Amino acid sequence: YRLTKKIVCLLLVGILAFNLAGCSINTGGKRIIRISHGQSSTHPQHIGLLTFKEHIESQLGDKYDIQIFPNELLGPSNKAIELVQTGAIDFVVSSTGNLETFDDIYQIFSMPYLFDSVDAYHKVMEDKELMESIFKSTEAAGFEAITWFDAGTRNFYATSAIRTPEDLKGKKIRVQQSPTNVRMMELFGAAAAPMSFGEVYTAIQSGVIDGGENNELALTNNKHGEVAKYYSYNHHQMVPDMLIGNVKFLNELSPEERKIFNEAAELCTITEREYWDIQIQEAIDEAKSMGVEFIETDIELFKEKVLPLHEELLEQNSKLIYIYEKVQEINKEVKGLE
Ligand code: GCU
Repeated sequence: YRLTKKIVCLLLVGILAFNLAGCSINTGGKRIIRISHGQSSTHPQHIGLLTFKEHIESQLGDKYDIQIFPNELLGPSNKAIELVQTGAIDFVVSSTGNLETFDDIYQIFSMPYLFDSVDAYHKVMEDKELMESIFKSTEAAGFEAITWFDAGTRNFYATSAIRTPEDLKGKKIRVQQSPTNVRMMELFGAAAAPMSFGEVYTAIQSGVIDGGENNELALTNNKHGEVAKYYSYNHHQMVPDMLIGNVKFLNELSPEERKIFNEAAELCTITEREYWDIQIQEAIDEAKSMGVEFIETDIELFKEKVLPLHEELLEQNSKLIYIYEKVQEINKEVKGLE
């Protein structure tokens, strides 16, 4: 399977190199739009992206042909971002963790226990004004975000049970390739192993790492529950994914076309979020039948370990202060409504 994936990847990279020479046009004379993501084709993000495709093609189908490449077929997201930067492909779904190296404003989402509740997280993400400044932050790097996707709450999972932070000692846990996540893992007391998402299954299976941290879909959609049987609800992060697009491509759209793309982006997020809630419930049931044990923890014990990271990041990066304060306001507001 890996070999086939590599061959497909090489072929696609060949096609892309050809496209770079300015030939991103299919035989029907349409402009091909390529979207890359790292999940399977049953994942809520893929389903959301299908509505993106449908909306655009229903109105501009004579001009654009949208092709979605799942499963990291065009490479892990940090590599696919580079393809979007150069315009070799047009869009990629990326975790904000991978975006930190392009603009450090994205560090905000890696701050553990930033949001007090899922409702507060959603409210922040729905704040158009706040998001606008974040979405546009990477313009100089050649891409911008056009919408966000829910990617749930991140929790630890491993080959042995993690009930308290003590259990993390001596464990090697995979993190996303982001300096903030590496630092967070150090504070938790585990050894951080940064690697791309597609490498995690084999790394757990072969014992290179003891586990990872992710939402529940990692257990089922990515099959990590086959090799890691303990999932611990310590709720350390809510990290969104961004749909990012090549700036030049987006800027060259006419205002009417851009409007259709924006509507498509909005629809795509609405669909993804609907499927998200349903699929998380299904993933929990499926993981249980795979033999995964779900563990409730005393969250405060985990929180204590990593809260110093808030001060640390705010001191290092003053851009975060405004957003951080805004998030705290929303945290309070949502709590007041409960
Ligand atoms: C989630 C997220 C992905 C991300 C992955 C990871 O699945 O949706 O965008 O790549 O976590 O941990 O790398």
